[in-house]
Order: sequence, then structure tokens, then C-alpha cells
Amino acid sequence: MSLKLTKLVVFLLFTQALTAGEGMWLPLLLESLNENEMKNMGLKLSAEDIYSVNQSSLKDAIVHFGGFCTAEVISNKGLLLTNHHCGYGQIQSHTTLENNYLRDGFWAMEQDQELANPGLFARFILRMEDVSDDMLAGVNDNMTSAERQSTIDKNMDMVRAKHEQGLEAYDDIIIRPFYHGNEYYMFVTRTFNDVRLVGAPPESIGKYGSDTDNWVWPRHTGDFAMFRIYAGPDNLPADYSPDNKPYVPKHSLPISVDGVEEGDFTLVFGFPGRTNEYLPSPAIEQIVDVLNPAKIKIRETALDIIDKYMRIDPAVKIQYASKFARVANYWKKWIGESQGIKSTDGIGKKIKMEEEFTNRINKNYDQKAKYAKLLPEFKKLYEDIEPYALSRDMYNEVVSRNVEILRAAGLANRLVTALENNGVEGYNNMKGRLTAGYYDSFYKNYRPEIDQEVFAALMELYKKNAPFKGLTSPLDKLAGTKDGMGDYAAVAKKLYGETFFTKQAEFEKVMQMKPKEVVAKIKADPLYMFTQDMNAAYNDIVEGKYNSYNDRIKEMQRTYMKALMEVFPEKRMYPDANSTMRVTYGKVNGYTPRDAVYYTPVTYLDGAMAKYKPGDYEFDMPKKLIELYDKKDYGRYADTKNGKMPICFIGTNHTTGGNSGSPAIDANGNLIGLNFDRAWEGTMSDYNYDPSICRNIMVDARYILFIVDKFAGAKRLIYEMNLVNPKKMAEAAHTPPIIDKGSKKKKKKAKMK
Ligand code: ARG
Ligand code: ASP
Repeated sequence: MSLKLTKLVVFLLFTQALTAGEGMWLPLLLESLNENEMKNMGLKLSAEDIYSVNQSSLKDAIVHFGGFCTAEVISNKGLLLTNHHCGYGQIQSHTTLENNYLRDGFWAMEQDQELANPGLFARFILRMEDVSDDMLAGVNDNMTSAERQSTIDKNMDMVRAKHEQGLEAYDDIIIRPFYHGNEYYMFVTRTFNDVRLVGAPPESIGKYGSDTDNWVWPRHTGDFAMFRIYAGPDNLPADYSPDNKPYVPKHSLPISVDGVEEGDFTLVFGFPGRTNEYLPSPAIEQIVDVLNPAKIKIRETALDIIDKYMRIDPAVKIQYASKFARVANYWKKWIGESQGIKSTDGIGKKIKMEEEFTNRINKNYDQKAKYAKLLPEFKKLYEDIEPYALSRDMYNEVVSRNVEILRAAGLANRLVTALENNGVEGYNNMKGRLTAGYYDSFYKNYRPEIDQEVFAALMELYKKNAPFKGLTSPLDKLAGTKDGMGDYAAVAKKLYGETFFTKQAEFEKVMQMKPKEVVAKIKADPLYMFTQDMNAAYNDIVEGKYNSYNDRIKEMQRTYMKALMEVFPEKRMYPDANSTMRVTYGKVNGYTPRDAVYYTPVTYLDGAMAKYKPGDYEFDMPKKLIELYDKKDYGRYADTKNGKMPICFIGTNHTTGGNSGSPAIDANGNLIGLNFDRAWEGTMSDYNYDPSICRNIMVDARYILFIVDKFAGAKRLIYEMNLVNPKKMAEAAHTPPIIDKGSKKKKKKAKMK
């Protein structure tokens, strides 16, 4: 074979293996699976520099933040960087109308002003290990799923017992299935509970563009906040105490002030929550055609009502800001996701792949015997589960999420069962947990008049669209209807008037009573009864059926995953996200969202100024920021090539929910950005990554530094960070001290060609 031909073959193999950017890889396996490719893409570090058990490595700077986001250590005093939207709940909890940290930002100018956040934790990964053999010992293909599960549960107890020995109270073991249960990995974790708020920009920076710009490129949001991990005197985890000291980490990320350019290598390290890249085509069709549209409609209805109230009352705006953002976030994502699957023919591509799968197994006797039934059975099962899956999504959206009081009253059931099952002690325990963990903050941010309107609107939707009539029978009873529609505003008015759950003072008065009386009060409450009836109707009609279909689907998905790996051995498959630590890498890269439009990969403060709408709740900007812009007072943080202040950039890194707050790291291990979002057109990356439009969005580290330094004047934070100039240093190292005129001429000539 000629050299050219060999090269071509290698190239083809390489591209077939994976499209650049796709994949959320296990840090433990980088050396065997990814190191070469990463180096080819520009990485200057080794896999060992990224993940090592024996020496400090990048992984020692990464934490799971509260279990729902990622954060990274950026100083040797435990300073944490994460997103504004990840710290939002904490910032909000310290916010009042007088000290409006959401609106004005918050900066601890001295260390002793940093604010404690009960319940918030930062969790490091000490090490990880493949425990598949131990976890799957004694498991075989002839078992029922119950037998399989019970064997795995027993194995899990044994694996835990084996590894838990000698662990401190603050260390733990997490064991998770990978590849849909074909493999298992164990993570040894260390959790710090004293995590304090250090700084956050005002929302007009940290959430600039709010919901209009959420999931959107081009973006101009400085979505960052800073926290600090505190430790006991021995630098180990300790409960909050004023005597705790800033944690000294094993590694902290240096921050590059040299910025990024299209084509630069980027690595994103974090805790992606959930993806489903290996679903069969009927599953994706169901999501796009049935489930997403139903959920979108419900949320849209609730959001319209809340938005109306938030716009007229600043107090409501604070109370509902966090809830609104949470509901709006996935509402918008689902819309983009469905569109993206359509625009990239995601379903067509799956079907093609499935055809190839069938072709291949038809040529292999063994594989045909094992796997030929899978795809036809999937098709049938997804048809069968559809009305149940739809009911489930609708029930969850209506009853468990968007009508707030139904959730509040539903949770009271825990008090009832606690008393009935565990007596007064169990009751008191539960009461303490529910009050501190739920009801206190619930009433702080609750407006019954808004919720009552949401109730009426969503009940109407549920009545109209629920796949089984029986699901709304408790509602029909209240409305005095059977088949026709009722007056749900009247139902809501009556229920909200009669129940004690909508009134904080009454609720608190009830809670003062003796346990037996409380439970009697709860059980006699009309709203509580309604939640119980709705729940019973749902359980009767949906729960059992849904679970039995879904268990079968899960079982088949496990076999299908195994089959895919066997039938396509040339493809390097990464495990779906499951809230465990992963690495993804790609390049800074623009994209074409639609015909004739190309998006470049970096935005600047000029772009934010262009969107500025004074007084607007989404696009207002702080005066100080405008002044800095007018004076071009960017300090050392401006782009050296064009003098502009960069804000965000995009790359081909494969990320999902949970990757928010993840560091974007350059080829040398320095922080260059902070992941916080994805571009809307490509949010279907959770099901079907497509390199043409899937982009993650990061805040440029220089913008973060600029805001901390020039805008907030929090110099003490800048001083504790380690700012570096890797590109300038590389340039300096490569510039020959004496310029040889001859070679200069040659270069010019070469350029002209
Ligand atoms: N879309 C981003 C993520 O999924 C950011 C969400 C927070 N911002 C918002 N406006 N809701 O979490
Ligand atoms: N914004 C998401 C998060 O909070 C990240 C994403 O979905 O891309 O984790």
C-alpha cells in the first residue's frame, strides 16, 4: 500500500471511530482510549496529568457542587468557581429587598464576610475503580430481572463493605452502573460541608439576557459566582464552624489570561447528569412527537401566568426568580431539542444505523440468535408504553411540579405515614426535616393567588389531554362534571380558600399542635384529600403498567448496549452520563445554525452593549460596567489582538446538565473558561450528538477576572489566584533571540504563495 493510501485508511478509521468532540469519557480510561487523540488535537499534558491516584492531577481541583453542578478550585485557599445559576439558590437565600444580592451582586471584601450555606457541599473524587467483575459475579443471561437485581444488590453490599473499611465519616463510596448495567465503577469521594459564598456579580451580568438568551448563542452572560471550601484545623472536612479555615487543595487550576482562538484545544471536566445516546429510533420519535410537546405546553401555560405577576411586582420577582428560571430552563431546552433532532435528521440517522446493525447481525449466526428480536420488540414496547409514559410526564409536570400547593400538601403525607409507622419520634424527626428542608423556604417564596391561577389552567389542560379519563376523576368530582369540562377557576378558588396549606400562619398554627391532631387536621384538609385522590388515580391506572413496560425496556436497553458494542467494534463508545466525573474535549469552533449563517466562536462586551435595554428585566446593564466599557478600561484582560473585552466562547465539547460550572481547560491545564450552557440548535446532544451544531457555551476566564477586578474591585481574590500567560511564554520560547534576515525573507515568500 502506498503511503498516501495508508494515510487515507488511517484517517477513515479515525473519523469512523468518533466525530471530534463527541463523548463523555471516564478519567480513569483516558490513557487507553483518548490520550492519542487528545494529543493529536493539541493537548500538551499526559492522561496521568489529568487523572492520577498517586500524584496530584487536574481531577483534584474538580468538585461536584451540591450534587447538581460542577465547580473547580482556583486558588490554594480553596476558592471555588462555579456558575451564577448554580449558586443561584444560595445567592437568593441571602437576598432581601434591603440587601438585594441578586440585583446588586455580592462581594465579600474580607474573608470574614463570606457567607455560610447550610446544606451545600463540595465533593471531591479521591479515586475510581472498575468493579464490574465483583458487581456482576454470579449474574447470567438466564436470570429474571428480579434475580439479577437481587444478585447485584448483594454484590454491591459486599463491594461496599470491602472498600468502606478504614474510610473516614466524610468519605464515601458511590457505585454506579455504566453502559446500561453492563459495567460498574466505584468512586471514593470526600465531601466538604462548609462551603461559603464569596462573590457573585449582579444578575444583570451573571444572568444577562436571562430567559430570552438562555440556551442561545451568541451569548453575553457572565454566568459565574465564587464560593470557598472551609476545612477543620487538620485541613479535613468539618461541619460549619467560625473557626474553620480555608481548605488547602491538592491542586488548583492556574488561570490563563491569554485567551482563546478558533481551533484551540479545550477540555471540560465535570459531572454531566444524564444522557441517552443509545436509544432506539422509536424512543426518540416518542420524545419528539409526544412527550416533549406535552411537557412544553404545560410549562408554557404555567410560565405565562408567573411571568405576568413577576413583571408587575418586584417582590414577586425575587420570590419566583429561581423557580421561574428552573421551569423555563427545560421548557426551552425541550423545544430546541426537538427542533435539533429534526434539523439534523436524528431519527433518520438512527434508523440507518439500525439497518446496518440488522445487516451485520444477519451475517453472524450467534449475533442473529441473540439480538435479532431487539429492534422489533423495542418498536412494540414503545408503542405499548406510550400512553403510560405520557400520563407519567403529564402527572409529574402538573401535580408534582408546576402547581406548587399540590406538592406542599402531598409532602404532608410523609408526616401522616411517619406517625402511623414510626410513632411520635418518627413524626418529630420528619417534621424537623420537612420544616427546615422544605416548608420554611416554601412559604418564603409562595404566592397563593399566582398558584391558584396556575392550578386552574393546568387542571384544564390535564383534563383535556390526559390519556386516561380516570386520571382526572377526583377533579371531576370537585367540579361536578364527568365528561365535559368544568369551571376550574371556581374549583381552585374553593380549594385554595378552604385548605390551610395556602396560608402560612394557619399552617404554622396547625404544626404547633400535638402530632395526632396535626395528622387529623391534615387528613381532613380538602386539598390534601385531593392530592391523595389524584395520586391514587394515577397509581391505579399508570404506575404498575408503566413500571412493568419500563423494566422490560431497561432490560432490553442493557442487551442492546452490549449488542452495539459487539456489532460495531470499530466504534469507540462512551458510557451515557450518570452524574459521575467525566472528561470531554474538543476545540473552540463556530457553527452554521441555518442556511447562509455562520456564528463565530467569541462574543465581546460590544455585543452586550448592543443588546442593552435600560430598565429591562433581562437586558439592563450595571452603570459601572457601561462606564468601564466607555473608557475601555479593561486592564490586562482585553484581547491583545483587537483590544476588545471578550465575554463568551463556544466549543465542540460534549456536555449536558450538571456540566454547568465545569472548567474549560487549555492544552496545558490552565483554566480558560467556565462552562454554563449549550447552543440551542444542538441541545439534542443528549440523544444524538451532531458535530455540525452541538456547541457548549463558556464564559471567557478574562471576563470573569475583569468583573472581579475592575467591576467589583475584589482585588484580594485576584491576588490569591494564579494568573498565567502560557501563550506568551510559548511565543517567547519560540522566538529566536537573533533574527536571521534571510529566513525572514523566506517566510514572507512562503506566505505570499
Ligand atoms: N441553560 C443552562 C442550564 O441548563 C442555564 C440555566 C440557567 N439560566 C436560566 N435563565 N434559566 O442549566
Ligand atoms: N446549563 C446546564 C447546567 O446547568 C448545562 C447544559 O445543559 O449544557 O448544567
